Amino acid sequence: MSGSRLPRGALITFEGGDWSGKTTQARRLVEWLEKADIPCVFSREPGGTEIGEEIRTILLNPDHAPMSPKTELFLYMANRAQHTSQLIIPALDAGSIVVCERFSDATFAYQGAGRGIDKNVIEPINTIATSGIVPDLTIIIDVPPDESTERATHAGRGEDRIEREGLTFQKKVRQEYLRIAQQDPERVKIVDGAKEIDHIAQEIIGIVEQFLRDRGFLPDTD
Ligand SMILES: Nc1ncnc2c1ncn2[C@@H]1O[C@H](COP(=O)(O)OP(=O)(O)O)[C@@H](O)[C@H]1O
Ligand SMILES: [Mg+2]
Repeated sequence: MSGSRLPRGALITFEGGDWSGKTTQARRLVEWLEKADIPCVFSREPGGTEIGEEIRTILLNPDHAPMSPKTELFLYMANRAQHTSQLIIPALDAGSIVVCERFSDATFAYQGAGRGIDKNVIEPINTIATSGIVPDLTIIIDVPPDESTERATHAGRGEDRIEREGLTFQKKVRQEYLRIAQQDPERVKIVDGAKEIDHIAQEIIGIVEQFLRDRGFLPDTD
């Protein structure tokens, strides 16, 4: 792995449970970055590339109930390997801010805590898939699982294979996200996803603005 790699851009990831508002907030951030004339790319996992979107279809298909946790893990990792090499690394090298909905933390939360795969097993495979790239900033949108259920019911669309796992699974995922945030407070920030969309967007922009100043993407104000 190339330990000396110094990408010029930055990777900002959005994490959190299903229906927590990741897409909504990631798009708001991208709009803000574009207005500020900061080059950025929006992407997501699973997905992000043409191959990745095909893998996403396999992963989320509710007919694929027999999929084993290991198969699931390797499909997410295959997706990540392609996504990292085809999209993320070139974008970082070009100096862009990559805003990505879900990345490595999601694997530790869902396949680790949710499915019960040992994180010491996930870690080395993930390092291969990401070429050692770790997000520079991660925003976890925290929403109680019953609020997510309510949003899902309200939207009235069918659940995908992961959403079908139910409340106990979602609670394990949430606990793991909170643990990750506690363990890595410099990189990982939690926002309260039960608040109004505009309120959350402002909070996230505040966090990202500070991050961009610290990294020299924006001039210091003082
Ligand atoms: N803060 C919020 N309060 C209430 N509803 C929200 C909020 N954020 C998002 N939503 C709604 O919840 C649904 C899921 O949002 P989305 O951004 O797609 O979540 P995710 O990408 O995390 O699954 C959408 O219908 C969206 O309009
Ligand atoms: Mg989404």
